[in-house]
Amino acid sequence: MEVKVAIGDIAKLPLDAIVVNLFEEVKTPGGATGAVDKALGGAITQLIKDGEVKGKRHEMTLVHSMRKIKPARVLITGLGKQEEMNLSRIREVSAESCRYLRKVGAKAVGTIAHGAGAGGMDAEEAARAITEGALLGLYTFRRHLTKESEERDIDQLLIVNREKKDLAALERGCRMGRIMAQVTNLARDMANEPANFMTPSNMAETALQIAGEYGLECYILEQSDMEQLEMGALLGVARGSRQPPKLIVLSYKGGAKKATIGLIGKGITFDSGGISIKPSEKMGDMKGDMAGGAAVIAAMRAIGELKPKVNVTGIVPATENLPDGSALKPGDVIRASNGKTIEVVNTDAEGRLILADALSYARKQGLSPVIDVATLTGACQIALGEFCTGAFGNDQALVERVIKAGDAAGECIWQMPMYEEYKELNKSDVADIKNSGGRYGGAITAAQFLHEFIEDTPWVHLDIAGTSRTEKERNCLVKGETGVAVRTLVNLVLDYK
Ligand code: BES
Ligand code: MN
Ligand code: ZN
Repeated sequence: MEVKVAIGDIAKLPLDAIVVNLFEEVKTPGGATGAVDKALGGAITQLIKDGEVKGKRHEMTLVHSMRKIKPARVLITGLGKQEEMNLSRIREVSAESCRYLRKVGAKAVGTIAHGAGAGGMDAEEAARAITEGALLGLYTFRRHLTKESEERDIDQLLIVNREKKDLAALERGCRMGRIMAQVTNLARDMANEPANFMTPSNMAETALQIAGEYGLECYILEQSDMEQLEMGALLGVARGSRQPPKLIVLSYKGGAKKATIGLIGKGITFDSGGISIKPSEKMGDMKGDMAGGAAVIAAMRAIGELKPKVNVTGIVPATENLPDGSALKPGDVIRASNGKTIEVVNTDAEGRLILADALSYARKQGLSPVIDVATLTGACQIALGEFCTGAFGNDQALVERVIKAGDAAGECIWQMPMYEEYKELNKSDVADIKNSGGRYGGAITAAQFLHEFIEDTPWVHLDIAGTSRTEKERNCLVKGETGVAVRTLVNLVLDYK
């Protein structure tokens, strides 16, 4: 779908449907909705009087214009309470109205600039949210379906504004929204892809291709390179798989100084648990255990496209976690590339093992600050559910900066504690550290484990185990992988430029 900005009277455009909006409690619509109401001979005001249109959140009322105006249909959407208005609400209205209009078969759609008028939002931000909401909300993953969908895609969405003065701002917002949504959908595609397609090699190829298209440097460390660097933790996990592991490094250079931000993503293309095998129910969802890695690769693509004046390096350790004759066994001791020895008490706690070598590598490269994104623990999913990503860190200002970047993207992030007491739980009798601190506080002990490998480099860890997929369609998310953290990471990087 193409999203464009147009200036003029929305009621005069030859579209299949247009979207207008209404806050709760409003009796006579004003602004752009008011103008359409007038052109319709007061039909919207009448619907409000009759109690059929209330302006409530999620409310959608479709009216046929019966040639009173050029567009064939008008979708009246509820914005909810005016005091609750924010960019997330705009994304939601945009996503829900587009999905509604796709169902009724509309091809050419126009929308008023939700939020830009009476909503009191900045025009650029509003256009960005509308574009993001539409492109994210209409996402589908149909690559492996051989039958064509009965629902056809919407071809075009026009964001229509009456005055010319906001044109440049609306167009900037529209471009930004398109880039952000497209990379988020790329991360969704990668994580939704079954593990027999999305192997570590496939992830590496995807990164190489993006690097070529968006002017990034890409370097793939092969198994032999990992051996040379003595990455015993990453290699340990990879031993159980027949797929060769890859350590993907993507670099963008836009800054004059040497300082480089590090983005690290867990790239387990399938997590069976290894010898500590998982129950079979829902094991298939573990094809998405590389969602953090996908988020980093996707964010790097946006950075290559937006070209901020900073340096950024993305690192994705990628492997499968499978049980095999040469797989890691509970009780094994391995050595990470920073020299620390690890007792593997549970082979299903593999994410922290591959991240141990990736974080050590980031530290050796002098990256700072470092943000890692990982579907790391079921414990985080239990603690926060699917609405909030967990944040852990060793630098409060950085944690707050990441939370703010998430907020601007409509991605909720909740800070978790990092008290020293939790660190004790990772103590091993036979090695420097063990890879599980037990059931209680499992998300925190996992973060404390990572802390041992990033040490005092300013760092934030985002646990997206709960937020990386959703079982239900919700605002701009659709069932399946969410592409969470991509837009948070890009916002954060842009905040440094
Ligand atoms: N990939 C899983 C975590 C996960 C769980 C992600 C649910 C998404 C949804 C991770 O590798 C894992 O298995 N963690 C274990 C750690 C435990 C063995 C210490 C867990 O959370 O059970
Ligand atoms: Mn696991
Ligand atoms: Zn895992």
